[in-house]
Amino acid sequence: MESGKTVLITGASTGIGLATARALCGTGYRVILTARESSLPRFAAHAVVESSNVRIRPLDVTKVEEREAVLAEAERDWGGVDVLINNAGVSYRAVVEHVLEEERLAQMNVNFRSPMEMIRLVLPGMRKKRAGRIITISSVGGMMAMPTMAAYSASKFALEGAHEALWYEVRPWGIRVSLVQPGFVDSDGFQKVRYTAQSDRSEHELAEPYHEHYVNMSPFIAKLMRMSRATPDSVAKVVLETIRRRRPPLRVPATLDARVFAFLRRTLPRSTYHWLLYRMLPNVRTWGPSTERKSALPPPMGDDSHQ
Ligand SMILES: NC(=O)c1ccc[n+]([C@@H]2O[C@H](COP(=O)([O-])OP(=O)(O)OC[C@H]3O[C@@H](n4cnc5c(N)ncnc54)[C@H](OP(=O)(O)O)[C@@H]3O)[C@@H](O)[C@H]2O)c1
Repeated sequence: MESGKTVLITGASTGIGLATARALCGTGYRVILTARESSLPRFAAHAVVESSNVRIRPLDVTKVEEREAVLAEAERDWGGVDVLINNAGVSYRAVVEHVLEEERLAQMNVNFRSPMEMIRLVLPGMRKKRAGRIITISSVGGMMAMPTMAAYSASKFALEGAHEALWYEVRPWGIRVSLVQPGFVDSDGFQKVRYTAQSDRSEHELAEPYHEHYVNMSPFIAKLMRMSRATPDSVAKVVLETIRRRRPPLRVPATLDARVFAFLRRTLPRSTYHWLLYRMLPNVRTWGPSTERKSALPPPMGDDSHQ
């Protein structure tokens, strides 16, 4: 089943993408590993090199001409893509009030619009073959939203909705669609989280109204990632199992916490579920108004800057 099939993965130079790339290279698949041009040297640094079955190509998923070039080459040389793995993703940390329109678009471009374009481009070939697999790395953030992660969650919720529709649409051609949902993964992904101009300032300035949101959420998320037993390799294993399953489900929770959250979301009344998550947020009762109270305190003796 594996030999003669072509798998393309995006964002394969680090984290879950790299782990999946390494796992794929040992199989009989023909593999197209893609990453942004500036990240390509990382493959050699991890001993991932080209061979007769492995190609490494530049692909910034947001660039139309790079998407088209890599897929045209796959079509010309290997008869198209049989398995598309949409892995590339970025994550912004900011409360809703701190995300400007262009920052929201940047988040949506990488995580939602680009994978959907990749899918649109591979579908005609898959329909012609009456077979194909679309596997997109979603997230627990696509089934629940946490404060300071609205833009990220919105991008993953959007993926979840679109893939649910796609699952029905392409079934007549035998094309299988799956969302692999990792929860917290012990990786350096946390260090790559992006801040917006306003969220960056608010995390550092005590008097900012949302300061407590950031100083509580950032270490909380970092701790959950560090404590997680899931690794990029364990998620990669789930991705490979999903490719190999004859009838993969639409949603595949890829870590223990993802399975727990999926269960809670399915079984608890929505109000209980939100109350439970709210109670889990660190020091949540000190957020917001207490920061404003601090900033409203009279200046220390001798400080005449407010007069
Ligand atoms: N780590 C977690 O806890 C976790 C949890 C749930 C879901 N996920 C999802 O899993 C996927 C992989 O994340 P990860 O944890 O492995 O994070 P990561 O180490 O930051 O990997 C993300 C990858 O996406 C690439 N990328 C970013 N922008 C791109 C673009 N415009 N074009 C092409 N590639 C781009 C990055 O390349 P550069 O190095 O060039 O930036 C990197 O290779 C993401 O979709 C993420 O949302 C991760």
